[in-house]
Amino acid sequence: MSEDGLRQATEKMRSAGVAEVAIKVFAHYYGLLESGQQGTIRETEIDPVGELPHLEHLDTDTEAMRAALAETAVIKLNGGLGTSMGVTGPKSALPVKDGLSFLDIIARQILHLRKTYDVPLPLVLMNSFRTREESLAVLGQYGDLPVDGLDLDFLQNAEPKLRADDLTPVEWTDDPELEWCPPGHGDLFTALVASGMLDALREKGFRHAFVSNADNLGATPDGRIAAWMAEHDVPFGMEVCRRTRSDRKGGHVAVRKSDGRLILRDSAQVHADDNASFQDVTRHKTFNTNNLWIDLDRLAELMAGHDGVLGLPIIVNKKTVDPADAASPKVIQLETAMGTAIETFEGSQAVIVDRSRFKPVKTTNDLLVLRSDVYQLDESGELTTTHEGDEPYVDLDSQYFKILADFESRFPAGAPSLVKADRLEVRGDVAFGKDVTVIGEVEIEAPAGERREIPDGTELRG
Ligand code: UTP
Repeated sequence: MSEDGLRQATEKMRSAGVAEVAIKVFAHYYGLLESGQQGTIRETEIDPVGELPHLEHLDTDTEAMRAALAETAVIKLNGGLGTSMGVTGPKSALPVKDGLSFLDIIARQILHLRKTYDVPLPLVLMNSFRTREESLAVLGQYGDLPVDGLDLDFLQNAEPKLRADDLTPVEWTDDPELEWCPPGHGDLFTALVASGMLDALREKGFRHAFVSNADNLGATPDGRIAAWMAEHDVPFGMEVCRRTRSDRKGGHVAVRKSDGRLILRDSAQVHADDNASFQDVTRHKTFNTNNLWIDLDRLAELMAGHDGVLGLPIIVNKKTVDPADAASPKVIQLETAMGTAIETFEGSQAVIVDRSRFKPVKTTNDLLVLRSDVYQLDESGELTTTHEGDEPYVDLDSQYFKILADFESRFPAGAPSLVKADRLEVRGDVAFGKDVTVIGEVEIEAPAGERREIPDGTELRG
């Protein structure tokens, strides 16, 4: 039955015009899915990583940074559909600060760095079929953004969502576009090749790409890391952060004993007996920020050597075909993550960076902090903060705040002031008026089945 599933899926891809290399990659991962390969990484197979360089201690100078940035292109992952917040277009087009979206701010960051270092620094989005049009419309407002005949984006591949019961491509006549999904950001490598963007960048003399999530405004191309990549001839560099207790359930970086390579171990790859060591943040001290630096020549060599199939670990993402309709058929989206390619490059390195380079917006909790007065946008497009210590911890009731439209309807006048807040927890249906200030640790609850309104100008203290 599932052999039939693979045949149907690849035929569907072919008739939709998906690139052959992407079909081959999909077929490889489909094989892993079908054989139930879990890809567990046992604790006995790995060692914790040793001492790592820290960004703040990298030794470089302005000329080395300029020279390295002159050969660097910036790629923003922008193909995700933001389904966790109920967003159907690009998350990066949402306004975050002073009426500017993620993409506006990214454009400003890039234009500023170009001026500072006098470098071309092309900006290229990896879009998916759902995010392209709207994202390019935002970037289209910045006439001086395109560089040297390079496109502002390349398109990632599309793959069929598979029925969870028999692994055949799902049919959804209500909205056939929902039969398709992007295959996760591990598709970066395949899409760079299939779109011709990898060759185009190399032909124009760009040796390195700095790749990061479009929703992470802390991820600007730092000249010190660019210089470090060039000086040490690093094929693949990963920015990692120190793991704290609250990150213990997320993945970590480790060294594979068999060949000494750096690898990522995600929670889905942990054997039940290894849970304690997996969560031990004093043993496995760092996690992947998804800010990556890639030597494009080495990538081209690697892709050619692997016949286009890097063979990354698969992620089996279980959803419903219509994310907004929980009763629609259950599907599997077969995905990979780009950071796992760390193990496929010989000589990959990791560098420790501060949390300020890791501010992804996954939930409306993250969005509220970003929209609040905790952060200010300076003229270089950098977000600065006057908040003391860690960011405030925000936990909004998911029933009323998880979906963007619900969230926004409860903050009609914008985010409350959080610059003096340490914690804000909201239980139930609470709506915030204008100029509300949160100070210290605050918990607010609405009576069951009722909406509680916080009047304009309220000071909430805890
Ligand atoms: P995530 O995997 O964290 O997901 O993406 P997401 O798309 O933001 O949100 P959900 O899970 O659908 O709610 C991290 C970054 O990778 C990009 C996203 O756009 C985001 O910038 N991404 C993700 C892609 O470019 N392509 C993909 O196929 C998946």
